[in-house]
Amino acid sequence: MKLHRPSFDRLAQNYRALEFVAFGRDLERARFRHLERLRHCRRILVLGEGDGRCLARLVRIAPEAHIHCLDISAGMLARAAARLAGTPAADRVTFEQADILADGPLPTGFDAVTTFFFLDCFTAEQAAGIVARVQAALRPESLWLFTDFALPARGFARLRARAWLATLYAFFRWQTGLPARELPPSEHLIEQAGFVLEAAEELQNGLLRSVVFQRKA
Ligand SMILES: C[S@@+](CC[C@H](N)C(=O)[O-])C[C@H]1O[C@@H](n2cnc3c(N)ncnc32)[C@H](O)[C@@H]1O
Repeated sequence: MKLHRPSFDRLAQNYRALEFVAFGRDLERARFRHLERLRHCRRILVLGEGDGRCLARLVRIAPEAHIHCLDISAGMLARAAARLAGTPAADRVTFEQADILADGPLPTGFDAVTTFFFLDCFTAEQAAGIVARVQAALRPESLWLFTDFALPARGFARLRARAWLATLYAFFRWQTGLPARELPPSEHLIEQAGFVLEAAEELQNGLLRSVVFQRKA
């Protein structure tokens, strides 16, 4: 049976413009909010980096780190690599085109992982499998920087978020073939894997959450 894999390639070129039209700079603010926490990391796993804007900032913030970027999209990886081309930081970054859902081990020994607008691409079952794989790749007391869309608990914020999420999932399903239809319980899954929430910030009335988790020994 031929499995259909989602592809973000056709979005790679316009990804930045699309997010600015929809949310201004708030997605950037949410991604960058806790990046400083990675300053002293030596090995960082970046899942679903996208077009490399966050990576370009991360290599400056964490000057000692070797960064492993895994993304399924050749187009996204090419844009990310182009941002670093010719800079000394390029030697510290490995780009791997791979499907996080595929079998096969992830590299191990990371001090931290970032999942920015990544786990929302998956169903609850897929996200649970990813969290299990990722936690096995991380060292004790490692950090998990998580930024994603969220559904506020109540009120107008919840109604507004529902409308945005329905629109976003319909758009990404059309453009990329994404299988997910709703947010997976990502924060719950990360906590179940032994990570403790250390800091959280919300933007856009709770539609965006940026969270630092740390694994407890
Ligand atoms: C919504 S974009 C988020 C990009 C970026 N992290 C950001 O903050 O905007 C999701 C990213 O995850 C990648 N991705 C989606 N499914 C994937 C999979 N199964 N394996 C690896 N990467 C995947 C996409 O190619 C894309 O770069």
